[in-house]
Amino acid sequence: MNVRSQFVAPPYVASMQLIESYEEIDEVLRSSDFIQGSHIESGVFLDGSLIKIEGEEHMARRQLFSALVSRAAMHHYENGALIPVIAKVMGEIRAAGPGPDGVYRLDLQPLLLTMLHRITALVTGVDDVDTRERTERFRALVVKLTEAVTAEWSTRDHNEVVAEGLETRRQLVDEFLLPSLERRRELALQYKEGKLARESLPTDLLMLLCLHGDDARPDDDTYVWREASLFLVASIHTTAQALPHVMVHLTEWFKQHPEDYAKRLDSSFLRQAAMESLRLHQPVPTLLRIAASDTELSTGRKVKKGERVALFFVPANRDENLFGEDANEFNPYRKGKPRLSPWGLTFGGGVHTCIGRPLVTGLFSRPDDRTGTEGTMIRMLHTLFEAGAEMDPGNPPTRTAISYADAYATFPLILRNLRQSA
Ligand code: HEM
Repeated sequence: MNVRSQFVAPPYVASMQLIESYEEIDEVLRSSDFIQGSHIESGVFLDGSLIKIEGEEHMARRQLFSALVSRAAMHHYENGALIPVIAKVMGEIRAAGPGPDGVYRLDLQPLLLTMLHRITALVTGVDDVDTRERTERFRALVVKLTEAVTAEWSTRDHNEVVAEGLETRRQLVDEFLLPSLERRRELALQYKEGKLARESLPTDLLMLLCLHGDDARPDDDTYVWREASLFLVASIHTTAQALPHVMVHLTEWFKQHPEDYAKRLDSSFLRQAAMESLRLHQPVPTLLRIAASDTELSTGRKVKKGERVALFFVPANRDENLFGEDANEFNPYRKGKPRLSPWGLTFGGGVHTCIGRPLVTGLFSRPDDRTGTEGTMIRMLHTLFEAGAEMDPGNPPTRTAISYADAYATFPLILRNLRQSA
């Protein structure tokens, strides 16, 4: 199948130079001759945040935020925020009871957002999200904010999407972010006065900004909300968008390879399946970069100073020379070339490489400690298959109509064994 036919370039990048080869994309992402070119229309939500800064400022900030993705933090997020929330959510579905045919029917998309909401809140530093009403409100606001932050890929009028997003952010700040920030300002004060130990403080984005004295910039009173918006949006929507693709691929794979069906509860098989699906589906249609000076890539491609280029991952991640003859297909047993990530370029590359990747793909445990993690995707897939998850044959998923992203709007799911599962 022609890769092109699976991917239509969104109008937003139609006038840009398209870069489709793996080597060139990798070179651009690693090159200091290019700076961030994404989120320009939606700059009001992200300007000055980690993803939009460069050079030494970016390096220092990335170093500061590395505490959010330490081994200990990952272990805490998975065990303290993901596993209990998954158990609670599955318990609520069970309590609501099955349909008349004895099976449970639900939509995977909101389910994933609910499963991930506390981990997202914990990373960012948002308190009080655990009652049913607060979870739903938080989830709804973050979904709306995501639409605005990714306005470049919207099929709607971009100015309208951004204007709605500003109102959404105001509500998110009033109802969730400001009270959480004020609590952390008080904690930081007590710590500085010697009344609290460092270990007793939470490790989250807002706390780090307070301890660093960067929770209120005199000439820029929304910086802190922009940094928080980046982490809120980046941490929940990417994973929730990626997981349904694995479900589709595995449904197809198990039909063609029934001998593998038993492996649906095997974490290492699920990890390989998730990585392979991530290779085939990216979080955004393209990453964008701007040339900081007149530049020539090693292939001879020329990019003028100030020119914005669109990095197309779809063909790059399906390059037959790198991923094999069947690169366009899903194959959980794929062996790519050595030194290639199994997910290709899906988590980006160079200095802006995804900081949250280990949260998604897990950390391997060393024999001498127990701090390994499964990763959010594998944990959620395991839970769903344990509950007998199947795509609803009479009710296929629908693609999103509000964005050019490779994403589903609805994803009807059946759970056949929920009573028996933990
Ligand atoms: C399937 C899940 C995910 C995918 C596919 C993904 C993908 C990406 C990509 C492609 C970039 C690079 C953007 C660029 O260069 O312009 C990125 C950056 C980033 N991601 Fe993720 N991401 C995922 C999950 C997460 C999670 C769970 C977090 C939570 C901490 C996160 C936080 C970030 C942040 C803060 C950046 C900016 C890093 C920087 O600029 O230094 N992401 N992600």
